Amino acid sequence: MTHKEVRKKFISFYKGKRHVEIPSASLVPENDPTTLFTSSGMQPLVPYLLGEKHPSGTRIVNSQKCFRAQDIDEVGDNRHTTFFEMLGNWSLGDYFKENQLPWFFEFLTDELHLDPKRLYISVFEGNEFVPKDNESIKIWKELFSQVGIEAKEGERIFSYGVDKNWWSRSGTPDKMPPGEPGGPDSEVFYDFGIERKFHENSPWKNKPCHPNCECGRFLEIGNSVFMEYQKQQNGSFKELPQKNVDFGGGLERLVAATNDNPDMFQIDLFSTAIKTLEAITKTPSNYKIHPRPYRIISDHLRAAIFLVDSGVEPSNKLHGYVLRRLIRRAMIQARELGMMGDEWLSNAIPEFISQYSQIYPSVTKNTPEINQVITAEVDKFRKTIDRGLREFEKLKDNQLTGSTAFNLYQSYGFPLEIIKELYLQKGVTLNELEFSEAQKTHANLSRKVTSRLFKGGLVDQSEAVVKLHTATHLLQQALREVLGSHVRQKGSNITAERLRFDFTHPEKISNETIEKIEHLVNKKIDKNLTVSVEIVPLNKAIEEGALTVPGTTYPEQVKVYSIGNFSKEVCGGPHVDFTATIGSFKIVKEEGISQGVRRIYAKVSSDHVNTRKNHAQ
Ligand code: SER
Repeated sequence: MTHKEVRKKFISFYKGKRHVEIPSASLVPENDPTTLFTSSGMQPLVPYLLGEKHPSGTRIVNSQKCFRAQDIDEVGDNRHTTFFEMLGNWSLGDYFKENQLPWFFEFLTDELHLDPKRLYISVFEGNEFVPKDNESIKIWKELFSQVGIEAKEGERIFSYGVDKNWWSRSGTPDKMPPGEPGGPDSEVFYDFGIERKFHENSPWKNKPCHPNCECGRFLEIGNSVFMEYQKQQNGSFKELPQKNVDFGGGLERLVAATNDNPDMFQIDLFSTAIKTLEAITKTPSNYKIHPRPYRIISDHLRAAIFLVDSGVEPSNKLHGYVLRRLIRRAMIQARELGMMGDEWLSNAIPEFISQYSQIYPSVTKNTPEINQVITAEVDKFRKTIDRGLREFEKLKDNQLTGSTAFNLYQSYGFPLEIIKELYLQKGVTLNELEFSEAQKTHANLSRKVTSRLFKGGLVDQSEAVVKLHTATHLLQQALREVLGSHVRQKGSNITAERLRFDFTHPEKISNETIEKIEHLVNKKIDKNLTVSVEIVPLNKAIEEGALTVPGTTYPEQVKVYSIGNFSKEVCGGPHVDFTATIGSFKIVKEEGISQGVRRIYAKVSSDHVNTRKNHAQ
């Protein structure tokens, strides 16, 4: 089947079960500083899994754009991709296991026509807090028996511990911060055939085979998470007030299963782009002989298209650094295929854009920007490579020491993994030990970048974050009143310590104006305005003047948060109930981040609330 057929079938199937389709959220999450990218379908839905009312009801279906930066180095085999679409259905306190498992089984066997004999199951084996998932085992046994298969434990149904059959955004229960939702899950695997295991090079040849053994025989094609627990301060788990289902299935994997071919890069989404690359390669190799470079180019290019579409630009920090790595790694592989100019970009980018033009029209709209950003980064890196290669000529005895590698990283902006790839490709040997020391230092540095992102636990629900979120709405309205209605949100990021708000405005803002804005926000806080929420159709919200974030696709029904008569925005929440709880608002920094876009950092301080209260008394 094609990816379009599978996506359409999934959405229609669940719509038939009274689910409401919602659009994919952005790849770069707004107001969720716990993560750089949306990497699963549930991430944008966390507030609703915790009990917030979703404007579309309690049954939801969608296809969510996801990006997993941690998989970059794995790309090149037949199954790893960084960008993918996750098909998802959710029960927000509605149905549970008794519907979820039969429906997914029905979808796989009746809609995708997968042979039930090729389906294998895993469930949670239980731990000190949560019992073994015997309920799911019972349901699965019944479902298989209806199609004449005796599903025995240890043969078709396997139980695993928290590493495999527990799901939360942060991973295993011990890694979950207090407040985080999670639960046991049940995965379905597709069996591509025993011969994969016995492939002559397989390290699994003489080892016992089971769904999670990673021998290449089984591929996980869907995961039903029974999101029913919340981590407590003392490390234990409490049942959530509502029992939820969070189902996610990789679109590309499901398509590969329908083709009975474990090579993800042979599905229609990739095969046309790969054929285009094969036609222009300057080497005698093709995908069949040498698949790795084709896989890396097509995965990374597709991901880069979506990151640029989400507003990311290459840089040395955070999102921008990931985009830079993707483009640079793809370019090195293009050189491996003898493509030294931009011909691989001008051929492959349009292929991907045409695949997605209907479902994600913004990629068509943003095509000029996508081409421009990626090509500019490639051109820039070409100069760096040329300089780096001159350094390479100077190497003695074709030996690259770890410190030289690190120096190339620092002086020429070569990411270490790219140095490794580029130089090894040239037959230069690398002192692996020294290199890994340098790499460790680098990894520690980047961890310090990212560890800040996780500070504060479930930040999007904490009191501090909720206050800053409401303050962000007040700030946006104050900016519009003081600077003009051309001000629109370009981005927002909140941690427990501060808010960061990006918006359109052509010039630097003077200190006096900053004070005016601050004063207006504080005035509204002091008035103790009521924050109210209503669920309305999107067009009604817009008609009533509610602000939206330009470039965001909204569902048909949306939540509108109003702060007195001062501010009205389409927003998922949550917010404080009254503005006086926010505290005193202070802008700490204003700067330009790109042409016509300014950034404000601001804080709130509760001390001042007390001071003001005391004054009032
Ligand atoms: N959250 C689960 C996953 O990402 C299911 O959607 O696998």
